[in-house]
Amino acid sequence: MRTEYCGKVSKKLIGKKIFLCGWISKIKNFGHIIFFYIEDIKGKIQIILKKNKNFLKIQEIKNGFCVQIFGKVKKRSKKNINKNIFNGDIEIYAEKIKIFSKSKSIPIDLLKNNKEKNRLKYRYLDLRTNKMKKNLILRSKIIYEVHKFMQKNNFIHIETPIITKSTPEGARDYIIPSRNYLGKFYALPQSPQIFKQLIMISGFDRYYQIAKCFRDEDLRSNRQPEFTQIDIEASFVNEKKILKIIENFLYKIWKKFLGIKLKKIPKITYKESIKKYGTDKPDIRNPLKIIDFTKFFMVNNFLKENIKNRTILGIHILKKNNLSLKNIKIYESFIKKNNIKKILSIKINKKNIDNIKLNKKNILNKIVIEKIIKFFKINKNDIIIIYQSNNKKIYKIFGEVIKKISHDFNLIDKNIFAPIWITNFPMFKKNKYGNFSVVHHPFTSPQTTSINKVKKFPEKILSKSYDLIINGEEIGGGSIRINNIKMQKLIFKIINISTKKQKKKFGFFLNALKYGPPPHAGIALGLDRITMMLTNSSDIRDVISFPKTTTASCITTNSPNKINNSFLEELNIMIMKK
Ligand code: AMO
Repeated sequence: MRTEYCGKVSKKLIGKKIFLCGWISKIKNFGHIIFFYIEDIKGKIQIILKKNKNFLKIQEIKNGFCVQIFGKVKKRSKKNINKNIFNGDIEIYAEKIKIFSKSKSIPIDLLKNNKEKNRLKYRYLDLRTNKMKKNLILRSKIIYEVHKFMQKNNFIHIETPIITKSTPEGARDYIIPSRNYLGKFYALPQSPQIFKQLIMISGFDRYYQIAKCFRDEDLRSNRQPEFTQIDIEASFVNEKKILKIIENFLYKIWKKFLGIKLKKIPKITYKESIKKYGTDKPDIRNPLKIIDFTKFFMVNNFLKENIKNRTILGIHILKKNNLSLKNIKIYESFIKKNNIKKILSIKINKKNIDNIKLNKKNILNKIVIEKIIKFFKINKNDIIIIYQSNNKKIYKIFGEVIKKISHDFNLIDKNIFAPIWITNFPMFKKNKYGNFSVVHHPFTSPQTTSINKVKKFPEKILSKSYDLIINGEEIGGGSIRINNIKMQKLIFKIINISTKKQKKKFGFFLNALKYGPPPHAGIALGLDRITMMLTNSSDIRDVISFPKTTTASCITTNSPNKINNSFLEELNIMIMKK
């Protein structure tokens, strides 16, 4: 039907007669002559129609009509050149026009930002916008690169089931009632975690999958209930190997799609990350860091006694960040609200230091402050604030404060990509009732192989896990897996899955662990989040064709929706009224 794409017609074709197919926009009707654009997936080009025998029929065309044009490519006069488009120096003089289908007037403006609700209702039209076309095309190219890279590195793409059994990743499951087994349910996978481990037991030593995952959890701008992972697992490898594979992949796609050479990716432990950034998802572009001053204060018995069980943290703000003490006052009142007490807040200069007043409890010690200034190379007109507390959340609170200050005062260079690995997470966390849950998933290996140690001191055990963070966003996470049935059962037990429940929920997996499970490890990267970064999108919905709203509904198809009673009866399901 067409000899060229609209967006690909170039000067080379001047004088040639061509066929184009696409949608009409921007019609300007001057009575004897009509101008309009015709647009397809590759771009648009201007069409000119002069009065001829077809003219009356042509007068009917409207924006949004799907048409075929036959016409001659001509050079535009200099004064009519449109510099905003690739082929703005040429136009087509149409000789024939065929209308494939008509269109109602387009309910969204394809050039402007439209309301979210409208965009999703008419998603098929929203996808005609340049932004969405660009994003989905890039997503497709990333997927192509994933396949190329993984296949080149001997990984085998294996699909795992969608209708399956619950896989624990910390969210609620989406469930599907079974018609054949009334009263029983399948679950959609939160990730292919268990299957990829079974695949390792099968002997496939390098697996990957572009995998759909489903999690019923609270949604945010970087979270969807249905999302895609680049899921990877390998046998007979250590952590170093897995991280290297992922680093090479990142270097490749950042270079290919952004022309950026990423620096060597640093690696810090969970503990270091919390101490320095107050979070396990640090944005290391932030020039503000948390400094732990506690040990500097431990200089005499009086202070040692007073500081016992307390943490003394501070923030160092450089002169070049251009902030005043007044600017940071609101953040300081936020810190204070959390039962964290101020020791000092000062702009460094001689007069201010001389004026330091010793506080009532005398924790503030001038010699200590002078030592700190020297040790941390705190320069004239820099600011330091120092606080102390026995509140365990002090790191988290300071983490929020440095994040907020840097955001509010634009201290972060948005043109930089700063990936970092966070490793050695704690194996377990305790809730307020004293129950343990796992920090990663329950198949993550503890660092010790000693069953006894894990049994006796679960809260002290670290795991062999790693997260990839870029600019404060979690892009991926993985771990070395447990390949010892005894350890696997113990981990389940610690997180309150009784032997009976273990059998019911994970019996098939525990059984598989009896058949020579190899040492194996893996990781999953969030494809949607990577695409967000490479397209500079701030909303995950801008990189997904038909996404859900923040309340997990699909406005395009109007789902979820009620289903017929007869269908429910067939499934033996009755809906209870609330
Ligand atoms: P995890 O749960 O950390 O690990 O997920 C891996 C990565 O998937 C992305 N991600 C999401 N993206 C969009 N919407 C969501 N709701 C969402 N949830 C997670 C993140 C995250 O880092 N099976 C393990 C991996 C492994 O151990 O190999 C897993 O799923 O980028």
